[in-house]
Amino acid sequence: MMGERDRRNLFDVDGRVIIVTGASSGLGQQFAHALHAAGAQVVAVARRKDRLDRLAAECPGLDARPLDVTDSAACAALVEDVHQAYGRIDGLVNNAGVGTPAPAIEEDLDQFRHVIDVNLTSVFHLSRLVAKPMLAAAQGSVVNIASIYGLGSTYPVGDASYAASKAAVINLTRDLAGQWSKRGVRVNAIAPGFFRSEMAEELFTSEKAHQRITLATPMRRTGEPGELDGAVIFLLSDASSFVTGATLAVDGGWSSH
Ligand SMILES: NC(=O)c1ccc[n+]([C@@H]2O[C@H](COP(=O)([O-])OP(=O)(O)OC[C@H]3O[C@@H](n4cnc5c(N)ncnc54)[C@H](OP(=O)(O)O)[C@@H]3O)[C@@H](O)[C@H]2O)c1
Repeated sequence: MMGERDRRNLFDVDGRVIIVTGASSGLGQQFAHALHAAGAQVVAVARRKDRLDRLAAECPGLDARPLDVTDSAACAALVEDVHQAYGRIDGLVNNAGVGTPAPAIEEDLDQFRHVIDVNLTSVFHLSRLVAKPMLAAAQGSVVNIASIYGLGSTYPVGDASYAASKAAVINLTRDLAGQWSKRGVRVNAIAPGFFRSEMAEELFTSEKAHQRITLATPMRRTGEPGELDGAVIFLLSDASSFVTGATLAVDGGWSSH
């Protein structure tokens, strides 16, 4: 049973060692800031070192390390190094992602494979790499950043590789949760709605696109920076201790109709 004292610390991530991928911009950068502000030992990874250096300068103590998530050997080395450095890994936020809308007839097969590699295969690989020390410690939380486009199609945009990768991330989340939860490692996903970022920029600069997405969103607006902080902290903290295999939509109601 949870005591008064534990309840006061329900959302505590203080001191937890949490790896955030794709932390050089957009949602990942925001997650790194939020988790750092909440007291976590954040290990922020992405390819652009200059961006990571800037993030580290803004967040004293944040550990920034360059990583291409499609480089499987580099991922293994990173997880090994982080485990060596801190003696444990408490959380992983699989946030790195790419999306380049294209009509299916025209999408280059190599481009399709690349999207699957970044958005899905790296999530599988990094998750099982961190799961080893987490399962040994019988505790850990993996949070996969899916998308509302994993809950349905991207209509009328047209981005088959992205939609396929994000739907697969949602079922990968369920399967890994099924395999690891009884041993203390929870796996969940967040399905964000529309947030301004490098990837989503066009949706914000095109008046027509912006109007279309806000009209399809019951709250009649897009997400503000920081409106995913609560979801990620919830899933990484003990507040979600009985939540696993779930996908939490944070989308102003977009997926509710
Ligand atoms: N913004 C939205 O409305 C929205 C909605 C639903 C879901 N999402 C998801 O949220 C996540 C973040 O996207 P965002 O919107 O914040 O877009 P973003 O600003 O373009 O950020 C994408 C991040 O992924 C990293 N990345 C891409 N390829 C990588 C690779 N091979 N290795 C390591 N890192 C890589 C990028 O860093 P480097 O280029 O420095 O490597 C960057 O930090 C994605 O998974 C996206 O699908 C976003």
